[in-house]
Amino acid sequence: MGNLKVTMTDINGATRTIEGVEEGASLMELGKQNDIAGIMGDCGGGCACATCHVYVDQEWFGKVGEPDDIEFAMLDMVADVQKPNSRLGCQIKMTPELDGITVTVAPSSTY
Ligand code: FES
Repeated sequence: MGNLKVTMTDINGATRTIEGVEEGASLMELGKQNDIAGIMGDCGGGCACATCHVYVDQEWFGKVGEPDDIEFAMLDMVADVQKPNSRLGCQIKMTPELDGITVTVAPSSTY
């Protein structure tokens, strides 16, 4: 069990803090494991479905960074991309620097 924390707001507006997060866990995996509504992760983390689309809180975006080209192309296909803080949850892996990160699940994650 890790010692990192993630706070997620689901598509219904409910906010939950997940504790005991291990380094290397992706936000998509965490969302699924913790039944965060709206995180589907249909492609299993392959950057190919966008059902793990989240909005990263502005104050955290600098630490998370920009999506790479493949992720960017995938995000481009979803309707409610909120540039610049949209990211695919499966592409964000937890590190000590991201301890306490806050994200909101995007409505399009359920398409
Ligand atoms: S789980 Fe499919 S793009 Fe993230």
